[in-house]
Amino acid sequence: GAARASGVWRFRELIMPGATDADIVSQPEGNTPLFHRPSVAAWAGVDGLLLKHDGFNPTGSFKDRGMTVALTQARRAGARAVACASTGNTSAALAAYAALAGVPGLVLVPAPKGGAQQVALGKLAQTLAYGARTLLVRGDFDDCLRLVREGAERLGVYLVNSINPYRIEGQKSVALEILQQLAWNAPDWIVLPAGNLGNTSAVGAALRDAVRLGLIDRAPRIASIQAAGANPFASGYRENFATQHRVKAETVATAIKIGDPASWDRAAAVIREFDGVVTDVSDAEILEAKAAIDAAGIGCEPASAASVAGVRRLAREGVIRAGDRVAAILTGHVLKDPGVLLDYHRADHDAPLVNAPVEVDATLDALAR
Ligand code: F0G
Repeated sequence: GAARASGVWRFRELIMPGATDADIVSQPEGNTPLFHRPSVAAWAGVDGLLLKHDGFNPTGSFKDRGMTVALTQARRAGARAVACASTGNTSAALAAYAALAGVPGLVLVPAPKGGAQQVALGKLAQTLAYGARTLLVRGDFDDCLRLVREGAERLGVYLVNSINPYRIEGQKSVALEILQQLAWNAPDWIVLPAGNLGNTSAVGAALRDAVRLGLIDRAPRIASIQAAGANPFASGYRENFATQHRVKAETVATAIKIGDPASWDRAAAVIREFDGVVTDVSDAEILEAKAAIDAAGIGCEPASAASVAGVRRLAREGVIRAGDRVAAILTGHVLKDPGVLLDYHRADHDAPLVNAPVEVDATLDALAR
């Protein structure tokens, strides 16, 4: 079935060795493309930049890699229902895989505030469409996560946030796929956006496996990129992770608008172990990187563009060198956040690559003009 075509379950022995085809809840997922786009590489200032586009997963984000394993485990364990807190992508993935598994899903996402959506439109729409029970919590993501962690046991639901180890096991597959696509010649860097820090932990765990098994002889370095307005991990890095930092998060990249990341300890260990770096980029840098990726004809959501903005930043600082081979993960699809796009491509917006629509009369003259 689907498991045979899944890029995640290809690595079954490293992810969930006991799983049989009958156990597996798969769409399928994974097997996402690794692009080279010269215009994006030039923008970032690194010729050897590759884009691992996880927006090509079934629900349009990397979350499907973890959710196929989490729902497989939920069904094996006979879970009554599954639940998560989310900035939108995890909830969309949970809703889809819960529907596929035939297990009820519950999601907690931040409610709109002051008329502004806190969850990108595409993600909320998917979550409703796939049928998860959706609670708009009057609070931010950090409130949602605290609430669902406290409530899961009392409600008797199985928690599938990335603190669930099965999620991390599935998300390891993105790094294993990159290595396989490069014929096990590891790149110098894997660069990814960072919010709750599950994916940084997962990429590190995959590299650990790959080195231990001799699949690669040298691990890439990891660069985790945060938004400047939601940067507790980047500021902690500057102090050698002496204490866990917390901030009140604010950024256009709502996927990573997280002030109190759950996987701090695991991610800090990964950054130390793989000679990693953590930095942050402004919303303006994120949107400029996104415009460059979008205009190359592939696109991504704002949080994903943080990885490419981070590559440019680190290249300018001389941390990433011009000749380095760099794989940047694009975590989500361009259609996840149409609101940010429509706001960017306005005639009165002075920014790179603005492509405002032009309203015309329904006449040949107007068309020719
Ligand atoms: N990129 C996208 C598109 C995301 O949706 C997320 C996290 C990240 C990057 C950061 O990954 O949290 O493992 O460090 N989204 C979560 C969600 C929080 O609920 O969808 P992380």
